[in-house]
This record gives sequence, C-alpha cells and structure tokens, in this order.
Amino acid sequence: MVDARKNLLKEDERSLVIINTSFLQIRKAFNFCMVLSVIAFVVINLFAFKFNISYNGEDFKESGSLINSKMPTIVSNRWIVLTTVNQPTKDVKYLATLSKWNVVVVADLKTPKNWTLDRVHFLSVETQKSMSETLNLVRKLPYKSYTRKMIGYLYAIAHGAEWIYDTDDDNRPIFGGLDTFDFADELSGVRFERNHSDPIINRLFNPYLFYGRPDMWPRGFPLEYFSQHNHTDANFRLCEVQKRAAVQQGLVDMDPDVDAIFRLLHANPTKVSSEHFNRHAPSIILGQKMYSPWNSQNTLFHRNAFFTMFLPTTVSFRTTDIWRSYFSQKLLHLIDEYVAFYPVNAVQIRNAHNYLKDFEDEQEVYLKSGELLKFLDEWKCSQNSTANCAIELAEQFG
Ligand SMILES: *[C@@H]1O[C@H](CO)[C@@H](O)[C@H](O)[C@H]1NC(C)=O
Ligand SMILES: *[C@@H]1O[C@H](CO)[C@@H](O)[C@H](O)[C@H]1NC(C)=O
Ligand SMILES: *[C@@H]1O[C@H](CO)[C@@H](O)[C@H](O)[C@H]1NC(C)=O
Ligand SMILES: *[C@@H]1O[C@H](CO)[C@@H](O)[C@H](O)[C@H]1NC(C)=O
Repeated sequence: MVDARKNLLKEDERSLVIINTSFLQIRKAFNFCMVLSVIAFVVINLFAFKFNISYNGEDFKESGSLINSKMPTIVSNRWIVLTTVNQPTKDVKYLATLSKWNVVVVADLKTPKNWTLDRVHFLSVETQKSMSETLNLVRKLPYKSYTRKMIGYLYAIAHGAEWIYDTDDDNRPIFGGLDTFDFADELSGVRFERNHSDPIINRLFNPYLFYGRPDMWPRGFPLEYFSQHNHTDANFRLCEVQKRAAVQQGLVDMDPDVDAIFRLLHANPTKVSSEHFNRHAPSIILGQKMYSPWNSQNTLFHRNAFFTMFLPTTVSFRTTDIWRSYFSQKLLHLIDEYVAFYPVNAVQIRNAHNYLKDFEDEQEVYLKSGELLKFLDEWKCSQNSTANCAIELAEQFG
C-alpha cells in the first residue's frame, strides 16, 4: 500500500506538469482553473477504487501524513464535510452527535486557533500544510476560500468514504434528516425525463416549482428561461425500480438557496426568512440530459460521484458550487449516474447578508449559466475513460 501511495504521488506530479503547460490557455473564457483539482480528484479516486480502500483506514496509518494520531475513531464509511471560520456553531455541534457519521471540518486562516469539538476530524491550517506534502492540490488551493472544503473531501475519500454529505456550518438536518436520503442501491420512485432532443427549457428542472413554490428558482437557474419555464405532465415517469441517485440534494426550509435577485425582490433584509416547501411530494431523479443547478449546502454524494466534486477555485464563492453542479451532471450522465432532489430535510437560518454584494458575486451565474448549460448539453467526450473525460471537459472550458 505504501508503494501504491508513492505511485499515486508520482502520477500526481506528472499530471501537474502536463497541466501547467496548458494552464494559461485554459484560464481564458470561463476562467476556470479547475483542471488541477480535476486531476487531483481523478487520481485520488482511481487510487481509492483500485485498492478498494476500506473504511477502517488501517492501511493509511503507515503513511503518516494524512492521519493525525489524535483524530477520532472512524465510525463508518459516511462522512460529513464542511468548512468554517467560526467557533463550533450549534449546527456543527448537532452534526457531531450523529453516531453513524464521521465529521470532518476544514479550517481556513480566520478559523479560531483553539477550535475543537469531540468526534470531529478537525483539519487545522497546520494539518493541511502537512497534508500538502503528499497532496499537491492542497498546496495549490487559495486561502480564505470556500474551495478549501475540497481538502475535507480528499480526507474523507482517503479514509474510505462511500458517502459524503456536503454541508455548511449554518445548516441542520431536520424531519428525518440524513436518513431520508437513499442509501440502498435501488428504489421505486419518480423520474423527470423527456425526449432528449427537446429544447433545453423543457429539460430543465426547477426543484422549488416541483415542491410547491412556482414563484421561486434556485441560485444558478438560467434566468432567461424562468418566465416561460414549467413542468408538464410529459416530464414525469413512475419507475418501479431505478438506481439510487449518485448525487442527492435535499431542499432546505426557512432560508433556502435562492439568488440575490430573488432576495432583493422578496426578502426583508432585517428579518430571518421563513420559506417553506411541500413536504409530501416525493423525491425525484433527473434522467439523462435533464438538468438543474444544485449547491453544496445539503447534498449527499455516493462514491461514484466523488470524481465530479471539484469546486472551481477562480470563481466567486456564490458561483463555484453552481458551476460544479452543471459540470458534475454532465460527467455523471456519461457513466449512467444521476442527480435527485429530496423533500425538505434540513433547515438554514442564514446570518445577515448584503444582497447587493451577493448580487455582485453572482454576476457570472446570471450571465453564463445558460451558455454553460448549452455547451455541456452538446459536449461529447472523445476519450475512452471517465477520468480522461473529466480532464478533457475541464480543458475545454478554455
Ligand atoms: C477559544 O477562544 C475564544 C476566545 O479567544 C473563547 O471565547 C473560547 O471559549 C475558546 N474556546 C475553547 C474551546 O477553548
Ligand atoms: C424525440 O424527438 C425527435 C424530434 O422531435 C423525434 O424525431 C423522435 O421520434 C422523438 N423520440 C421519441 C422517443 O419520442
Ligand atoms: C408550459 O410551457 C409550454 C412550453 O414552454 C407552454 O406551451 C405552456 O403554455 C406552458 N404552460 C403553462 C401553464 O404556462
Ligand atoms: C484508450 O485510448 C488510448 C489512446 O487514445 C489507448 O492507448 C488505450 O489503450 C485506450 N484504452 C482502452 C482501455 O481502450
């Protein structure tokens, strides 16, 4: 296993060299410098698959640098990942009580130095620096960036994660919480699917409309389609058996993820929002060539989707997870994996934001989502392996 790790590192180095040469070109149009993260993710995922790493993590003890002996015992192959700059919030404390889940918290420069919480794998900036000796990605990630969360994904993957739950320090599971996601391989349920050659507007899914709020749209929904968009009966299928979705996004009550345009029009900036959704509509899987944006606040990933989890580092905090969601859907479709939405199973009480500042951070989302979606919808992979497809796609954003 130690040898395997050395090979992995060599691979990582080699990829970086290749990448660095084409780097400048790639940064142009969408200004994505995601290739780096793509490579790191792909390499680490392949590694995890190849050696079928088990969750007890014994094999990793030898290598030292990823494991800190003071870390808590690993309780399962399910991992919660978040990044924070605050002392443990009530929501993080709650997550740490979930006995079936491991929690990994990624620090950033502003995170209090004395941060500590029982049962939590806390990756301090120092720990991250020692991880960067073996993981190039860690060294390349900017500080004061939400994308450092990726270090938490890598940590979980390296410790044999089968499931990763992506969340934030101000979200909390409710109404059955994480148990309402589907962990079994198959389920009976609803599918959103239409003729693949229909116009994109008909293949777009608006989860808020589906769960009873036609007046709302999720951050990242291409706004040029909103006024004419609806779901018709033709979009829904009942399936007796279908594969569980590799990405499962739960809706969030109170302050769900909407863009600054929605908030500027409808929210009272001095009050806590209290939006609600229908809790009885079923979960729904979006089929091949069906799309919706989704975020990093209440989202479960199966390991088959881990290679699509990279967060682009050169776009704003309010853009990065949206770009990932589109990119990820395309890659998942290539391997016959899908994205699903679940009725509310978390709540967010968001602290005060300046909506105009959010608006500014979301400009790329407003201006480029539609264009990005069109590009992805038409994109075809010319490679013969999924890993190479991920890299090719990242390169072609340039
Ligand atoms: C960490 O430090 C802050 C202030 O410096 C203090 O309020 C807090 O109680 C400390 N936390 C722990 C766990 O010691
Ligand atoms: C999908 O639409 C195309 C073009 O409108 C049509 O030719 C094709 O027959 C349709 N496929 C199905 C399965 O309905
Ligand atoms: C739904 O959208 C279709 C096509 O975009 C349109 O023809 C239809 O009138 C719309 N229905 C409603 C109720 O808005
Ligand atoms: C994939 O394609 C490359 C050349 O593009 C080839 O060398 C390799 O053998 C192919 N691998 C498989 C599994 O087909």
